[in-house]
Amino acid sequence: MSDETREKPARRESEPIARPSPPPPTKVLAPTPPKPAPLLPQASSAAKGRRRFVKALFVVGAALSIAPFVPWGQYLSSSVSAKVEPTLQKVVADINATNGQASGKPINTTDLETFPPNTAWLVTYPSSGNLTLDSQNPDTFVKWRVIRLPADVGGTNTDATAFVAFSEVCVHLWCSPNYDPEHSTSKVDETFQCPCHGSIYRIPDGLSIAGPASLQPAPTNAIPMLSLSSDASGQLYIEPAVFDVDHNGVIGYGRYYDTYYSYIKPAAAKSG
Ligand code: FES
Repeated sequence: MSDETREKPARRESEPIARPSPPPPTKVLAPTPPKPAPLLPQASSAAKGRRRFVKALFVVGAALSIAPFVPWGQYLSSSVSAKVEPTLQKVVADINATNGQASGKPINTTDLETFPPNTAWLVTYPSSGNLTLDSQNPDTFVKWRVIRLPADVGGTNTDATAFVAFSEVCVHLWCSPNYDPEHSTSKVDETFQCPCHGSIYRIPDGLSIAGPASLQPAPTNAIPMLSLSSDASGQLYIEPAVFDVDHNGVIGYGRYYDTYYSYIKPAAAKSG
């Protein structure tokens, strides 16, 4: 009898089944966590901030220190001439609480009650043609302080010679000066005074006589002015302005103050 025909011996129930042994477990390597970036010490970022701040201060300080000596007038295009062509314009006080009883009214040289001597009003020149819009315009480059002179320097005259009009932009660093003799803290009361650094402009020619603007070389030591005239009815006018240093001045820069008598001085009465 061959092997093939021989029967396999029956497996006894109690005999365990032989199983292949499992493969050894594969070793799984955990990924190495990235090394944390080295932390900069806190003091270092604070120091960086401080350095940036000091640098900024230095740049601003340097800019301010040269500001009075840079001929800004060569670079400034007056916002006035850029927007509206200066023309002959009736002088009307802005609608503004600081203008008191004159608010919104045309300035008449014969009305000494509404426009008394030694008083000033804010006006806009050149005008957009709309008094309300003009009055709300915050651009000081189109704002002027029309001053009726004190009586002892002609303020009671009933023509344009009783008035001057100064720019509201100081030629030092562009703050807005004011004419307020009643509340002046200066010993030089009847003057146009800048609240920022104390520049004082005298009337009637606008030359700076104290403060930083007075230390600047001509023509940067006088405030720009408008030329005024009046008609037969006493209505005050602004003559078409010429914004250069030999005439009405460059706003925020200055003018040759001695041209006052030859150019700024109020024109003779004109026909309405
Ligand atoms: S801005 Fe400096 S004194 Fe007027």
